[in-house]
Amino acid sequence: MTADDQKKAAAIRALDYVKPGMKLGLGTGSTAEHFVRVLGDKVKQGLDVVGVPTSERTGKLAASLGIPLSNLDDTPRLDITVDGADELDRELRLIKGGGGALLREKIVATASDRMIVIADASKVVETLGAFPLPVEVIPFGASVTARKIAEVASAFGCTGKMSRRADEYGEPFFTDSENFIYDCEFVRIPDPDGLAAALNRIAGVVDNGLFIGIASLAIVGTPSGTDIIEKN
Ligand code: 5RP
Repeated sequence: MTADDQKKAAAIRALDYVKPGMKLGLGTGSTAEHFVRVLGDKVKQGLDVVGVPTSERTGKLAASLGIPLSNLDDTPRLDITVDGADELDRELRLIKGGGGALLREKIVATASDRMIVIADASKVVETLGAFPLPVEVIPFGASVTARKIAEVASAFGCTGKMSRRADEYGEPFFTDSENFIYDCEFVRIPDPDGLAAALNRIAGVVDNGLFIGIASLAIVGTPSGTDIIEKN
């Protein structure tokens, strides 16, 4: 199975956890898109669910598939969020934000009784950090905030190149909430819990892509099927 087949297999298995009447957080990225598409098929067959998208992009896709949509103001408590990840470890700590939606993804996931991660096998790592950690920053004073991120990260044993994300035209990338993202090439994050908390204490940091203690189950596509990683 290719990585994309594995993503799709994980997305299909996630449907096992979806029950009629549920309110679902809908993630962002290519794996989450597989889930939205298979969910759309089920809705066409009569499944009654409501989705809360984690990005404009996912919202457009879900609407085009006829999935009834809401937002967190009208639907503040969700049953399950199903979303992808850039990296996950066996303790279900994640790096997210490769698609730039980390802030809304974290808000939606933490408004859910349960977050289920769907991923291909390449996303499972021993130690987080090979994937550059996205940190979402308010544009005002962003270069000062970036210097503080570097200082704080270094106290947690994390150093490396940090670059402000650019779009395909080389212009600054703006998140759905009009913020910048700094991608931090730390290679290895020895203390993800400590780093996540410390980064979020910096004025100007809106959030970072470390999801700690949020996901409770991961469905991982493998060359031979799907595996489950469940939190003890
Ligand atoms: C978007 C995300 C995605 O879940 C993450 O980037 C994984 O993407 P993909 O499923 O395309 O590999 O966090 O902000």
